[in-house]
Amino acid sequence: MSKTSHTPRVFSGVQPSGAMHLGNYLGALKKFAILQHEHECLYCIVDLHAITVWQDPTVLKQQTREIAAAYLASGVDPKKAIIYPQSNVRAHTELAWYFNCVARTGWVNRMTQFKDKAGKNTERASVGLYTYPVLQAADILAFKATHVPVGEDQKQHLELSRDIAQKFNNDFNVPDFFPLPEALTQGPGARVMSLRDGTAKMSKSDPSDNSRINLTDNADIIVKKFKKAKTDMGVMPAPGEDLSERPEVDNLISIYSALSEMNRKQVVAQFEGQGFGVFKPALADLAVEKLAPITLLMSRYLSDPDEIDRILLAGAEKAAEISEPIMRDVRKIIGFLGA
Ligand code: TYM
Repeated sequence: MSKTSHTPRVFSGVQPSGAMHLGNYLGALKKFAILQHEHECLYCIVDLHAITVWQDPTVLKQQTREIAAAYLASGVDPKKAIIYPQSNVRAHTELAWYFNCVARTGWVNRMTQFKDKAGKNTERASVGLYTYPVLQAADILAFKATHVPVGEDQKQHLELSRDIAQKFNNDFNVPDFFPLPEALTQGPGARVMSLRDGTAKMSKSDPSDNSRINLTDNADIIVKKFKKAKTDMGVMPAPGEDLSERPEVDNLISIYSALSEMNRKQVVAQFEGQGFGVFKPALADLAVEKLAPITLLMSRYLSDPDEIDRILLAGAEKAAEISEPIMRDVRKIIGFLGA
């Protein structure tokens, strides 16, 4: 992590809007557990972001607990890191409004994720979906967080968060009030692609379940999905070989690398010239070895929802203690009466 004049603080979030998959795990969760040993960390379950598209209320509650269980099962320790639901801490919505007044529509219009999610008919998308990245900036800056572990798809949103922080500091002449948060996207798991199409991101919303490995998939399903994963007529590449025309193979090598902690060079060297009949089962075995304990722990945590709720509510109190003094300063800076 690079140095800033602010005390380092880590913030990240996951939406409770569908099953967690390998991309979420490698791009975000795996880093959460590592960072908690060195830094103050807040890991939010961003239910306010989830409702930018329709969520069934009962399902939303269940999925919020599932994300909490996934955090815990991947090693996030509530004694070390704060985990909580976004909707339970008021600072998120309050600061999001102030930032709606700081951010320019031109900036938000450039966000590619809105275009992807809204599809062709943007007029039917919720206003919340449009201002989604502004709320994301508020999430991070309500805690003056300096570092944000995320997958590569969030880079543009992090750029916007920096622009909003900078403009707030300039507009109100409070240089350095908000830090300019930095995305932590290093590592081979930052952009996990679909198993059916190496040019598309692995995603919760892909209609094909075979395109992703869900954290709830059992060993048999994981093996089957890797067996079916798209490859090509070739064999495993030699070191230095250009894989730009073989995105599926490139992706499987990245996944192996991220799961094994070997770098890509080492993975390529180990499997050079082998057929996919050798590589795919090796990858499936590795995925099962790494994911099965997480899946098992997740279901154990989920068998005691009251305990999850206790952890989340205690986390929300701690988060509010950090954000409240920051919000008091923000209200004063903006010039609200009585602040
Ligand atoms: P969400 O719920 O879509 O994804 C959660 C995390 O998983 C990462 N991710 C991936 N990483 C690698 N490969 C993939 N195929 C892949 N798919 C998803 C995402 O980059 C993310 O880190 N906008 C955020 C949620 C959010 C947030 C925040 C994150 C709201 N406020 C503040 C950080 C800080 C999102 O869409 O998450």
